[in-house]
Amino acid sequence: MPLRRYLSASVVALTPSAVALAVLHWTGALAARPALIAFACISAVTVVLVQHYIASLGRFARFVGELSGQTEPAMPRLSFTPATEELATAAATLANGWRRQRASIDNLAASAQAIVDGLPDPLIGVDRQRRIVRTNRAAVALLGAVVAERDLSTALRHPELLAAIDSLLATTDGNFTGPDQIAVSLVLSGAPELDVMAHARRLPRAAADGSLALIVLHDTTALRRAERMRADFVANASHELKTPIAGIMGFIETLRGPARDDAAARERFLGIMAEQAERMRRLVDDLLMLSRIEQHEHARPAAEVDVRSVLEGVRDLLQLKASSRKVAVELAIAPALPPAVGDRDELIIVFQNLIDNAIKYAKPATTVRIVARALDPGLLAISVSDEGDGIPAAHLPRLTERFYRVDNARSRQLGGTGLGLAIVKHVVNRHRGRLEIQSTPGKGSTFSVTLPAA
Ligand SMILES: Nc1ncnc2c1ncn2[C@@H]1O[C@H](COP(=O)(O)OP(=O)(O)OP(=O)(O)O)[C@@H](O)[C@H]1O
Ligand SMILES: [Mg+2]
Repeated sequence: MPLRRYLSASVVALTPSAVALAVLHWTGALAARPALIAFACISAVTVVLVQHYIASLGRFARFVGELSGQTEPAMPRLSFTPATEELATAAATLANGWRRQRASIDNLAASAQAIVDGLPDPLIGVDRQRRIVRTNRAAVALLGAVVAERDLSTALRHPELLAAIDSLLATTDGNFTGPDQIAVSLVLSGAPELDVMAHARRLPRAAADGSLALIVLHDTTALRRAERMRADFVANASHELKTPIAGIMGFIETLRGPARDDAAARERFLGIMAEQAERMRRLVDDLLMLSRIEQHEHARPAAEVDVRSVLEGVRDLLQLKASSRKVAVELAIAPALPPAVGDRDELIIVFQNLIDNAIKYAKPATTVRIVARALDPGLLAISVSDEGDGIPAAHLPRLTERFYRVDNARSRQLGGTGLGLAIVKHVVNRHRGRLEIQSTPGKGSTFSVTLPAA
């Protein structure tokens, strides 16, 4: 304890006694000697008491100081100083209350951040000056680590969005003048490029972290892609139908005009027209089947299907086509193969398409091999291999898209619609199975279907 404080406190405590003794001596009531002895005794007791009191006050002050720390300090012994003891108890209670409140505030802040982090869409909070003051995990994943307190333009360089945010935050005389929410669609460059809809909303007043406007980026890439695919699909389907229709109309014109009385030409043209009509019928059938499968794609089929009878049936059906191309079809079905879980008619369509492709694209005088075996656990694998020209690797990922063909002219000439593998993929998806394609150009291809076994 500082000596000066101790001395001054002692002087203050001794002054009344000294004054009283001096007055007694001055009025002659007390001689000098007893007065001095009395003063010495009083001084000795006072000095001890003052020292004790000041030491207690020091301990009390230290205790109060420590109360604002993280851990609760031990209450000091404050003997002979009753008032300080009560003060210390009151201060400890107060500090406890504060600590509880601070814990619940910390808790609230942590759960608020957890909720914001849990949002699947990136969220950015900006303050009045358009500086970034809050981001969630999705925003960091999308934009990389965003430096807090930097202008929004450092993370999102999109003039239209920045202008919209400015209009949201614009004020005159302290009053907001712009709209309180906006939506801007933007393209975020990068691999892959993302179509994003940015929704921004101004809060009624700034949040504790300074956030005044919240920006949520909603990824619309899949939606756009689906829109584009639908548009492409309609365009492709119309285009596929246009060619045979144009052909048929041309022949009708010819039959009405120049070839009106030419019996031989009429026969020939009618034959071609029948072929074109047949092609349109196949196309429409395939389109209808695709839409039917798509409609109930989410409902998983549950019947037990004997794979052997399905494969043998399809082989018999395509036998004629195979022998006309001098292609042998070989079936190898594992004994005691468990039945597949699925829809018999749809599985027939799958293998009819795969085996038809194998025969169609095989080199003449080769063998198409069909192997069915059980895979553990609870799976069946059926593969169809051909010795054809194979498919270059670049085409493999797109092969199951509607109307996608490796060699357009050749497929059309072989009577293909380009929808076969798209149908296969949809059926396999509905069965919660998998389609795998392996191909070596020049050697041949293998299409494997994995299905759940009963
Ligand atoms: N076994 C195969 N060998 C080589 N190429 C193949 C094979 N199977 C499919 N392809 C390629 O994939 C494309 C798409 O096949 P898909 O079965 O969808 O259409 P398609 O056979 O032309 O017509 P269809 O709708 O009548 O089946 C084919 O055009 C062909 O280029
Ligand atoms: Mg096909």
